Amino acid sequence: MQIVQQGKKIFDETPKYAGQYVGNKLSCNDCHIQSGTAAYAAPMIDLAGLFPMYNKRAGHVISLQNRIQECFARSEAGRPPAEDSPEMQALVAYVRWLSRDQVKGRPYPGRGLVKLPPLEGDPVRGKAVYARECAGCHGSDGAGVPPVLPAVWGPDSFNDGAGMNDPNKMAAFVIHNMPQNHPGTLTPQEAYDVSAFIHTMPRPKFNPAYKNY
Ligand code: HEC
Ligand code: HEC
Repeated sequence: MQIVQQGKKIFDETPKYAGQYVGNKLSCNDCHIQSGTAAYAAPMIDLAGLFPMYNKRAGHVISLQNRIQECFARSEAGRPPAEDSPEMQALVAYVRWLSRDQVKGRPYPGRGLVKLPPLEGDPVRGKAVYARECAGCHGSDGAGVPPVLPAVWGPDSFNDGAGMNDPNKMAAFVIHNMPQNHPGTLTPQEAYDVSAFIHTMPRPKFNPAYKNY
């Protein structure tokens, strides 16, 4: 159980407990909301038994450890912890614990992100949505107030190889989970627009040395 608790700590406060692998100020928990238990915020519940699985980006079958390494190299703008590192072992123990009731091979109903109709985002409209709905927490400079309010662009944010750097994925994340104090109030078009705006802003570069992740 101690290793599961350590895994949850790393998940909730990644820069603090796994700092050597993190290049920004994001925790897993900033995207995988409520310690990885919120539906449609890519939850960890009932996930462990789905691995090993085929990964489109990698082009081959990956383990749960590989998938976590991928989020370190991209979403955390850092570097992948080795499979036998204490940090990786603790995170895997935590995800397995959240998957303890899984019926083998069956995904959690709230897995991944919501499906949105494909729309074209407009960054000019999105700038106004951001000012009205997001800047109060994430700042007009996108920097937030880490670790409480995460950065959405700039040096403390995810890099340009991250899943969240896909405007469609961000729109799907945002429409279900943001604004954090009244989620579900944006239209699909507003979610695409604000995501298009955020994607015009600078962020860390993905390190191609980690292209296998
Ligand atoms: C900037 C946001 C962000 C951060 C920070 C982040 N992730 Fe992710 N993660 C994502 C997105 C987006 C996906 C893909 C969701 C999808 O496409 O369904 C994902 C997918 C995953 C998956 C696969 C989920 C599935 O359903 O297949 C795992 C496991 C995972 N992340 C673990 C982690 C861990 C552990 C950390 C912290 C070390 C972390 N992530 C940090 C955004 C993030
Ligand atoms: C009331 C404060 C608040 C508002 C308003 C808000 N957010 Fe967030 N946002 C958060 C917090 C806190 C998190 C971390 C996850 C959590 O705890 O819910 C987060 C996480 C995120 C993330 C994933 C982590 C990251 O930094 O990349 C994105 C993307 C995001 N918000 C975008 C938006 C957008 C777009 C809007 C406006 C439509 C918005 N947020 C409005 C507080 C807020």
